[in-house]
Order: sequence, then structure tokens, then C-alpha cells
Amino acid sequence: MQAPEFLSTHATHVEQALASMLDARASVVAPSLLAAMRYSLLAGGKRIRPALLLECYQACGGARSDAIDQDQIMPAALAIECIHTYSLIHDDLPCMDDDDLRRGSPTCHKQFDEATAILAADALQALAFELLAKANIDGELRCKLIHSLALASGCQGMVGGQILDMEAESDSEGMNLLAVERIHLHKTGALLRWCCEAGALLANADEAQFDACSRYGKSVGLLFQIADDILDATASSVALGKSAGKDEAQNKATYVSVLGLQRARELADEMRELAITACEPMDASASNSNKSDHLQALVHYILERGQ
Ligand code: IPE
Ligand code: IPE
Ligand code: MG
Ligand code: MG
Ligand code: MG
Repeated sequence: MQAPEFLSTHATHVEQALASMLDARASVVAPSLLAAMRYSLLAGGKRIRPALLLECYQACGGARSDAIDQDQIMPAALAIECIHTYSLIHDDLPCMDDDDLRRGSPTCHKQFDEATAILAADALQALAFELLAKANIDGELRCKLIHSLALASGCQGMVGGQILDMEAESDSEGMNLLAVERIHLHKTGALLRWCCEAGALLANADEAQFDACSRYGKSVGLLFQIADDILDATASSVALGKSAGKDEAQNKATYVSVLGLQRARELADEMRELAITACEPMDASASNSNKSDHLQALVHYILERGQ
């Protein structure tokens, strides 16, 4: 599945901004730490999360632009990539998923060492909040974004989901659809949903628009991890840029392990429908009827990657 063109355009802008943000710290950060942060942050990646942020912002009436270069959007876009990359570095550690390959290259702890990888991830987490804290936006909005990102990434969000994911490895008896949904909504869904809600908040969305983005983000978050589970079982390591077939080998709780491939694909289809339906209120309140086109294209892209 070809990525939509706008996704590559956003990715290019985000990568340039991530690179200059790190360059600006070259004189104040230990070279080995900065090298590991740069290695993982700039290793490629689809940059889906910044795209969701920008597209929700625009669907809620934020200024349209091909470039994700607006002052008020970029800090949040960079912050979410910092949090996401930190979560991947930790996810790959020997004590977690023990992976050697990420984004087509050796994982951070393989390229450097475990201590450096852990510290680079820690630094990226703190950097995310630093970026938001000094964003050039209204103070109340800034606090809301910092608070909601803390919730989405911490013990009630991504980190909370990761512990459930790890514990489930030794509890296949207790695994059912509801339990897997809970894991996925937390470990992956919370950050994707944050992007959608943050985009709406930055656009000063009304309640109906915010709710639409939030519903969209919840469905897309779940869809994204179902597709990841399907890809782990069906795609090659070369195509994925990370080791395929690991979920079964590690007895992970996934949609594929609980439902089987066929039913997981059907559920992904249902999630796609929910995400597309969530877009309707955005178009209803829009002056031009194409407002959610890109959000819909992202849903199809995420789903079709997993087919
Ligand atoms: C991988 O996320 C981790 C999951 C939540 C499944 P992505 O598939 O977005 O990873 P990159 O950023 O494109 O490498
Ligand atoms: C990762 O889920 C979720 C987070 C990194 C928070 P996975 O363990 O399935 O992600 P991959 O497959 O290693 O990218
Ligand atoms: Mg994992
Ligand atoms: Mg993993
Ligand atoms: Mg996976």
C-alpha cells in the first residue's frame, strides 16, 4: 500500500524540524547521548502521529497548509514523535520485546548499549514535555496539552498498556477479546488518540468537533494496533523494518492470537467503519466538504497495510 502523498510531505517537514531541534542541543548534551537520541529519532518511521495531529487540526478549521510548519503545531508534532520513539526504544529492550531490528536498522541498544538506549529514551521523554512547555501558544492550552500527554503516555496510558502487554505473555488462559482491547487501547491507542484530540484543541475546536476527533482517534488507535498484529503474523521483516513473527514466538496477547487472522481482519474492517463514521460531524460543520478527506485516507492506509 502506497502511503498518501501528504503523509510523506508531513514526514519530510517533521524530520527536518526534529534534526534541527537536536542540532540546537549539540553543545549542551553529551555527544554519546545525543548520538543515540538522533539515531532512533531520525531512523525513518512513518510519522503517522504528527500527520494525525495536523490533519485533525485542519479538519477542525485550523489553517490549511501543505507544510506542518505552523508555530503552534510543530512543538506538539515533535513532542509526540519523541514520546513514540522513547516508547519504541524501551519496547525493544531485552527485558521487554527483545528486538534487534527497528525501522530497518539495529535497535538502539544493539547499536549502542543498553544503558545508553535507556538514557536516550528517558531524555526523549523529558524533551517532549520541554518542547510543549515552551510552545508559543496560549498558556491554558499549553497546560492542557502537557497534562493530556502525561496521561496518554504514562501509567494510565501507553506505559500502563505496556505492563499489561508484558504480563499477558504468561497469562494466555486469561486472554480474551476484552483484555486484548484494553492492552491495545492503552499501549498504542492512547498516544494516537492524543494526537487527534491535541489537533482539535490546537484548532480551538467546538465540543462536537473535539468529540468527533476523539472518537476517530480511539478507532484509529485500535485499528493501528490490530493492523500491526496482523502484519507481525503475515509480513516479512524486510517489509516491516522490524522482526516479524515475534508475537507468536513470545506468546503476546494480540488480536490474531485471540481471534485468528480472518476474524482480526474483519474486526479491523469494523474499526475502519467506526473511524470513517466519526469523520461525519467534521464535514457537517465544515464550509468545504473535503475537510476529512485526508483523515479518511489515513484510515484506509492503516487498514490496507494490514491486509
Ligand atoms: C510501531 O509504531 C509501534 C506500534 C505502536 C505498533 P509505528 O508503526 O508507527 O512505527 P514507526 O514510527 O512507523 O516506525
Ligand atoms: C508497541 O507494541 C507499543 C509501544 C511501543 C508502546 P508492539 O510491541 O507490538 O510494537 P512493535 O511491533 O514492536 O513495533
Ligand atoms: Mg511490545
Ligand atoms: Mg515490540
Ligand atoms: Mg507489534
